[in-house]
Amino acid sequence: MTGKAARESAVEMAETVLPQDANTHGTAFGGKIVQWIDLCAGMVAGRHCRLPVVTVSMDDLHFHEPIKIGDFALLSGRLTAVFRSSMEISVRVMAENPLSGERRLCTSAYLTFVALSTDGRPVEVPPLVLETPEEQDAFERAKERRERRLQRASARRG
Ligand SMILES: CC(C)(COP(=O)(O)OP(=O)(O)OC[C@H]1O[C@@H](n2cnc3c(N)ncnc32)[C@H](O)[C@@H]1OP(=O)(O)O)[C@@H](O)C(=O)NCCC(=O)NCCS
Repeated sequence: MTGKAARESAVEMAETVLPQDANTHGTAFGGKIVQWIDLCAGMVAGRHCRLPVVTVSMDDLHFHEPIKIGDFALLSGRLTAVFRSSMEISVRVMAENPLSGERRLCTSAYLTFVALSTDGRPVEVPPLVLETPEEQDAFERAKERRERRLQRASARRG
């Protein structure tokens, strides 16, 4: 199967944080940010394999700073690793002040998506072509994270 580079599936998306996206503190509700992250990562995974995909895990989710109502939420999603049917995607959310242009990293997470065949079973996806030393490093770290997350998932299932 022909490989594809991460740049071919990378996604940038933006939202304006509206009052209906906010919690009782007047900042973006965590669940809304997670929804945007899931959508962003799903687009990356779907673009890579051009198959139906589902979220199988989301971890290392950190809310570093709040995002204010009126700020722009800028999401960047990029593949870090592809295994057989599963793909790990890094999503980072920056808040941009619409008046000053100042940007801050507010949320980050790793998501794993699985590609499904028409009968709903996991199916092999194109390999990831690593183009830079940074992508090679990111892939090595993704393999370590995968080991840990599969161990955790297995322990959870008991
Ligand atoms: C995704 C799903 C089809 C996988 O089924 P499964 O029986 O675990 O399939 P497998 O054991 O063959 O695993 C398939 C891949 O998922 C990976 N995987 C399974 N559980 C995982 C987890 N908790 N975290 C990360 N990867 C996981 C496996 O390592 C395997 O990867 P590989 O093919 O790249 O080696 C099944 O878990 C599922 O349907 N989950 C619900 C998905 C969902 O409803 N999401 C929310 C809405 S989109």
